[in-house]
Amino acid sequence: MKTQVLGEEGIDLAAQLLASGEVVAFPTETVYGLGGDAFSDDAIKKIYEAKGRPSDNPLIVHIAQIDDVNKVALEVPDVFFCLAKKFMPGPLTVILKKKSCVPYSTTGGLDTVAVRFPSNPIANQIIKKSGTLIAAPSANSSMHISPTKAEHVFEDLNGKIPLIIDGGTCDVGIESTVITLATDIPTILRPGIITESDLLEVLDAVTVFKGKVERAEAPGMKYKHYAPKCDAVAASSPEKALELYRQKEKEGLRPVILALDKNLNAYASCNIIELGQTGQDVARAVYNALHEAEQNFGFIIVDKLPVGGVFDSVSNRLKKATAGREE
Ligand code: TXA
Ligand code: MG
Repeated sequence: MKTQVLGEEGIDLAAQLLASGEVVAFPTETVYGLGGDAFSDDAIKKIYEAKGRPSDNPLIVHIAQIDDVNKVALEVPDVFFCLAKKFMPGPLTVILKKKSCVPYSTTGGLDTVAVRFPSNPIANQIIKKSGTLIAAPSANSSMHISPTKAEHVFEDLNGKIPLIIDGGTCDVGIESTVITLATDIPTILRPGIITESDLLEVLDAVTVFKGKVERAEAPGMKYKHYAPKCDAVAASSPEKALELYRQKEKEGLRPVILALDKNLNAYASCNIIELGQTGQDVARAVYNALHEAEQNFGFIIVDKLPVGGVFDSVSNRLKKATAGREE
């Protein structure tokens, strides 16, 4: 299959393809998504096939206005609308009880459905014009790093999907925060740029899921995700990063350090990719940095990130990229 890459001029074609049961990759504010009609078993099958993703890992249904939630969810609680008022459109996914019209192929066999209203205007137009709602996981091959540029999507899915809409680099850079309202106390299943303390401005209580996953109850926890193609480790300090760097250099491995701005001087003689300084900076930069690193280098060393807020969400992703290795 030939994969076309178009800019905004491709929005109408993207919507037509989606309406006819095809899959299309498109930008959102978090990462690129691989969309298909959320009500079509066939389209969902194509998504899983293109990604090589296990079909019990549920998909997020993307909506184009708040009211759309009623098309897929049952007994939508008031608290959903409180969250929506503050955070939607935006990088928040909410899990609710599903309506029977949502196929189990979309929800990975679960009786709940994940709903997200993206703020990216291209995503919004594509969903609206498709005339349906769009199930979309991140547009990477299963197990690889999430895409934040059209080029990243092309690298993984060229030849497997008919169309990629290029909307430039994603603003947020890591996937949406996922919270379930299907439990007694709202529970964060995947941390993101909207943090626990942001959510507590609207909710009376929130818990953070930390358990071990048997089924796909918690996203990204069951499967090893987001891994680059070469080895990656987290350094426990800048000194350790330098020590590792020298060691890997001796082994002939072409190391690179993904570095916070404050450590750039310490790494003056090293190959580095800058991550910026704030939690937001690092979220925006991290997947792009991992893509660049795996393409140009042989060993990835990641700077120690500060603790708290958005940094914790980025660390959650990096743990998967490094398989939890810290030295
Ligand atoms: O930012 C994002 O959320 C991006 C963009 C494209 O919107 N999408 C994304 O999709 O990250 P994906 O499929 O890569 O991650 C969705 C996660 C999965 O790990 C899945 O397990 C979880 O959400 N999820 C979806 N439906 C669920 C449900 N009903 N219950 C529990 N977890 C669910
Ligand atoms: Mg993903």
